[in-house]
This record gives sequence, C-alpha cells and structure tokens, in this order.
Amino acid sequence: MATSLCYAKPLKPFSLRLPQTQNPQIPTQTTQIREAETLTITGPTQLSGHVPISGSKNSSLCLLAATLLCSNSCLLHNVPTGLSDTKAMLSILRSLGAKIEFNERNKEILVNTDGVGRVEPCLEEMRKIRGGFFVIGPLLARFGEAVVGLPGGCDIGERPVDLYVRGLRALGAAVEISYVFFSAFLPILSQDSAIRQEKVGDGRVLAHSANGKGLVGGSFHLDFPSVGATETLMMAASMADGVTVLSNVAKEPEVIDLARFLNDSGACVYGAGSDKLLIKGKCQLRGCECYVPPDRIEAGTFMLAAAITRSLISISPVTPSHLSCLIDKLKIAGCKITRCNNDTLEVSAIPENVCENLRGFNVRTSPFPGFPTDLQPPTMALLTTCSGSSIVEESVFDRRLGHVRELQKLGAKIQVCGSTALVFGRETRSALHGSQLRAADLRGGVALVLAGLVAEGTTQISGIGHIGRGYENLDTKLQFLGADIKRSIAMASQL
Ligand code: EPZ
Repeated sequence: MATSLCYAKPLKPFSLRLPQTQNPQIPTQTTQIREAETLTITGPTQLSGHVPISGSKNSSLCLLAATLLCSNSCLLHNVPTGLSDTKAMLSILRSLGAKIEFNERNKEILVNTDGVGRVEPCLEEMRKIRGGFFVIGPLLARFGEAVVGLPGGCDIGERPVDLYVRGLRALGAAVEISYVFFSAFLPILSQDSAIRQEKVGDGRVLAHSANGKGLVGGSFHLDFPSVGATETLMMAASMADGVTVLSNVAKEPEVIDLARFLNDSGACVYGAGSDKLLIKGKCQLRGCECYVPPDRIEAGTFMLAAAITRSLISISPVTPSHLSCLIDKLKIAGCKITRCNNDTLEVSAIPENVCENLRGFNVRTSPFPGFPTDLQPPTMALLTTCSGSSIVEESVFDRRLGHVRELQKLGAKIQVCGSTALVFGRETRSALHGSQLRAADLRGGVALVLAGLVAEGTTQISGIGHIGRGYENLDTKLQFLGADIKRSIAMASQL
C-alpha cells in the first residue's frame, strides 16, 4: 500500500474480501448510536491501551458523491459504514437510482451509478446532512441538471451556499434557489390591509447547464476557502468542456483525497493541497477503487481524550501532518507525543510526564492547515481542566459555541463574547462534577463525553444521535480504553 493512506486505482474484477480487523477486540459490526439513547459516564477515569481509527466521515461523503461522475462501478474500502451520515448519503444515492452493495463487516461499499435516472435526490435524506448538497456538482456535470434540497447538517452557523451557486454559474450553469411561499391576508385595523408572505419549508436549488449541452470550463475565486464548495466545484469542473481555474480554494486533506479519486477515475485535477486548482474537463470518467483514509478529527478527538484524562494511549492509523496544529498545542500544554511508526501516535499526559497540571493555551480556528474548527469543542473541554486561562476563538463558523452552556453545567468556568470564549482553567484537574447534559451537534456532543470522563460522579448525555453521525463505536472504543461509559435507551423524560 502506498505510504499515504489514501490510494485509488482503476477497478479490476474483484469480489468483496473478508475483513482484516485491526483490533480483534473492537467489533467491526457497529451498533449505530440512535437519537433515543443516552450515554452514562462515571468519572473521573484514566484511559490506557490502543484505539483504532475509522475511515474519514468527511472524505467518505464527498467520495460517495463523486461516484455519480463515474460510469461503471466504484469500490470504496475502509468506509465508516456505521455512521448515520454515511447511511444518509447512501440513501441519497439510492434515491437517484444508484445500485449499492454494502458490506458492513469489512467496511466496503460498491457503487454503480449507471442506472441513475433522477436528478432530484430524496429531500428528507438531504435535510439530514450537509454533505448531501455536494451531489449538485456531479449531477450537473454528468446529467446536465440537478434539483437538490438546501442542505441540513449541524446547526453551527449560517452555512449559506452562495459560493456553490456562484461557482456553478461560473461553469456555465443556470442556478436558482426556490422557496415555497404562503401568502396571508391580514386585515389591519387602521387604513388598509396588507399581504404577508411566509416562507414555508426548505428551499431547493434548481440547476441546469445554460447551453443545454453541458458545463463549460471557467474561472472562479472563492471569497472563503469553503471545503464543500471547493469539492463540489472540483467535481463539476472535472467533466466540464475546457479548463477551469479555481482560486482561494480549501486545502483540507479531504480535498486532496477527492482529487486523487478523480484523477484515478480519469480526470485531470492539478494543484490539490494548494490554494489554486486547475482542472481540465473530461467527457467521461470511469469507476475506480479507493481506500478512505483515517478520520483525522476522530484521531484528534482521542488525542484530546488522552490529554483530558491525563492518560497514555496509542492511536492508529493517523497521519501526523494532518494534525500538526493540535500536536503543537498539546505539546505546549505539556503532553508527550511520540510517533511510534508510520501511522501510529502515542499521546501521554500521565502525571509522571506532566508536572502539576497541563497548561492552558490559546486557540483560533481557521481553514487547514490552521487549527480545525471540528476539534474546537473537545479542545475547550480539555482547557477547562488545564491550569491558567485560555482564549478560544471560533473564526470558521458563527454559532459554534453551543457546548459552553453544557460544560458550565459541569462546573466549567467559561465566559463567551461573540465567537470568542475565555476559559478559566484549574490548578487541580478534577473540579468538574457530573450532571445531565444534552448534545446539540456532533463535535459539541463529543466535547461533553470527554468532559464527562473527568467529571466527579455520573454524567448523563442525551441527544447522542448527533455523536453517532461522526463517531463509529465511540462508547465501545472508550470502554476498551477503560472508561466507565454505558449506552442506554433514554426514558421519555430524558428525550
Ligand atoms: C466541511 O463543512 C465539513 N463537513 C465540516 O465538518 C467542517 O467543519 C468544515 O468543512 C470546515 O472544515 C463536511 O465535509 C461534510 P465550509 P462545509 O463550507 O463544507 C462559509 C463535522 O463536524 N460558506 O468550509 O460545510 C460557511 O458559512 C463538520 O464533521 C459560505 O459563506 O464547511 C462557514 O462559515 C461540521 N458560503 C465557512 O464558509 C458557502 O457557499 C466554512 O464552511 C459555503 C460556505
């Protein structure tokens, strides 16, 4: 296997193979975390051992969308099949007419989109995830038309789609957003009456190639290096007629994974990982085989779990260069990070290594290679246990501090002003105490789990369906590391 963990190659005849489980203890069969369940954690606890990292959620979502570009089949390995987001994306592809073979045990998915006969995916599934919106690019590029619902996903900010719309228009698409309006006649007591229009329901984006033949190469500068808009425009441009130049694009590893997949399907994408992409459109792409790389955000979350519990654990597979910002911050705090081999990291924050306590540090989230916004909530949980105060500035999303209220219920001292939080640490680690909490989004939810691991007593977390969107087997993996964490069906009062 190539040094980098993501590889793709043209598809040879194959059969779905038996699984090679990395950790015989941790079951490959994932039991999906459901909305009506709660997690009960008893703390404080220390962790030890090794944790295997699943395939990347965010890479999988855009690679699955990209299969819509390919004639004949694509085989994806190491897909986090147990995530509800993955299942929603598969339902979106099926609703378009794609044929899907799914092997949960060995994390393999075979997708054939030759039978796609619709350009309007199931709205209900679209509303569940943000990544579903990415299909607008490949549908437009291959089928010349797309009607997609406005995306769902975590409620962490405005999250408009203006960059997608303007980018697709720059590639020769006619795009409009339509809402369903309800008009009401309201008699007003005084002079005259007024008509008030009420928007009822999510909008849809209707797009088709303006020339009726297909997309055309063009150039577009993104005002902000949006990951989703970059990935969607890359997919659209890979089958446009002519050359496309996209500038100020996202440089996230997931963008590089997609470029590798597209190039192995016969596309010509240059510059992935830099802030400019040059794409020579091709009239046809073919299916390929691809290995989904490990989830850098899951790996980062477990590194933070080791730090917050002052433990020593090893994590693999992980690509250290994908997490260099976090590694630097944890070292500043006093953690010892060791690279054991090509794709294994050992994180140690055990008291022997850390004098009195871990030191706080300041964080400002920004696009890759900056500090990942997806690790901001669990990092804040850690900072509530470090000595000294820390400033956390969320600069990517405008409403991603929802977890603060829940952490305060555990006794954390945090002050918020706009998108900046001042976190007052502690000289001694375990001043948090257990409480009843509610997860409101994916990464905010996992921050509560990490805080629950060190809070005195019992912490109960509801709304954990959010966590199951992005973490496979989180509770089982933590149990194998020694955590006292149980999943149970929530009583009606807890929902
Ligand atoms: C991707 O979301 C990830 N999701 C997010 O992970 C991640 O937080 C984010 O990138 C940033 O790294 C997936 O890949 C499925 P953006 P995306 O477009 O593409 C603004 C998780 O927890 N913007 O880079 O939606 C937007 O409002 C999730 O796994 C526009 O203004 O993120 C935001 O402020 C959460 N106009 C900023 O860009 C647009 O048209 C970054 O968003 C598009 C985006």
